[in-house]
Amino acid sequence: MSRSVANAETNNLKFLLKSLHLGGINPQRGACLGERFADEVNQAAWGQTMSELAERSGGRLIVELGLRRYPIVVASEGDSLREFVRERFPAPERTALVVADANVRELGEAVRRELEAAGLRGQVVEVPAGEGSKSLEQASRLWDILAESRADRRTVVVAVGGGVVGDLAGFAAATYARGLALLMVPTTLLAMVDSSVGGKVGINHPRAKNLLGSFHQPAGVWIDPACLRTLPEREFRSGLAEVVKYGVILDPEFFGWLEAHGDRVVEREGEALRTVIARCCALKAGVVAADEREETGLRAILNFGHTIGHAIESVMGYERGMLHGEAVSIGMVRECRLAERIGWVDGGVTARLEALLKRLGLPTAMPDLPRDGLWAAMGRDKKNVAGVVRFVLPRALGRMEATGNVPAALLESMLEPGP
Ligand SMILES: NC(=O)c1ccc[n+]([C@@H]2O[C@H](COP(=O)([O-])OP(=O)(O)OC[C@H]3O[C@@H](n4cnc5c(N)ncnc54)[C@H](O)[C@@H]3O)[C@@H](O)[C@H]2O)c1
Ligand SMILES: [Zn+2]
Repeated sequence: MSRSVANAETNNLKFLLKSLHLGGINPQRGACLGERFADEVNQAAWGQTMSELAERSGGRLIVELGLRRYPIVVASEGDSLREFVRERFPAPERTALVVADANVRELGEAVRRELEAAGLRGQVVEVPAGEGSKSLEQASRLWDILAESRADRRTVVVAVGGGVVGDLAGFAAATYARGLALLMVPTTLLAMVDSSVGGKVGINHPRAKNLLGSFHQPAGVWIDPACLRTLPEREFRSGLAEVVKYGVILDPEFFGWLEAHGDRVVEREGEALRTVIARCCALKAGVVAADEREETGLRAILNFGHTIGHAIESVMGYERGMLHGEAVSIGMVRECRLAERIGWVDGGVTARLEALLKRLGLPTAMPDLPRDGLWAAMGRDKKNVAGVVRFVLPRALGRMEATGNVPAALLESMLEPGP
């Protein structure tokens, strides 16, 4: 038995774009699922350069969450963070706590100066770089600093860094005084296209990753693609796996665009990066607006490639071996092949996916890992219902469905090492 994730909708993108506020279109709240906007939004969303799109939308995307709605800015040269801060946090006497990891400390200082220019006094707190900082120890340190500096509801927590800093600082913001305002300033590609949008914040527990956390939407997301200049090559490419994922799950046109312009992206050409980031943020914003707390099942489409990907990561260990995006890249190929074997897509889809990932410099071959470890990890997947491993798989590019009906022998064959 399979169940359509997007219920009656067959085209995920069309469904999502109706809930987007993009390209200068201003759907009334409540009308966002109305048919009449669909064509207009689709037309606005693609087929034009990012600068044209930005011009029409005032340079920003809106995550439509009613009272918690917030803007995402993909900044171009000349855009001013201090203006954005003034607009988002207008009340007087505000303070800020900027959290940055050791590798982006200088960016943290630069952000602090912008905040000060906007009237927000504050300090930069540095945490060690790496997954290990998503810990109770670091969260506790942030709570202490907030308490010592007499933080209150006018304090803004600002996360400058990758997903680690965003998740940690966001967790501190969500828990301190029942919730402080949060500003996300992502500096890795993964954080720009994924973790800084959507409100999931948290830390790790010794027994499981991201076990302690909350939903706490930011008040704004400020993305400056120029930050990516210093990002190590492997981290950058790892982020591209999530980018490709958006193409598969929601947006065949974007997938085609990546096939045509992948080289520009790999070279980190400015306009290509802005197109990629804005497009992915728009898609994620649409998913989040439609399923903020992962309740309807729609948000689960973001998990494509992650059932097998997470299993690879957990067996290899999070601190070494493979980066998240690398494991997801392999996971996507294997899960697409699984969709092929159950007759949902033809081999051409898997071949295109594999070729694109390779061109972007991502691994696609399954490493030789203990099968029992992989099974145990998949058994803990959060999509599972009553112990059954569930997958979200493509029916075609841009059309996903969930299934809990994959024969064990077939799944076992997907875990075999090799290309
Ligand atoms: N909240 C969510 O929705 C969500 C979604 C996906 C992933 N995540 C989480 O995100 C984390 C991974 O995020 P990540 O991949 O960004 O890792 P990360 O934050 O560890 O950053 C990767 C590395 O790049 C360095 N770095 C960051 N920006 C840099 C820059 N501009 N120049 C040079 N170096 C820079 C960091 O110091 C770090 O060493 C995981 O903990 C994962 O669970 C959260
Ligand atoms: Zn991921």
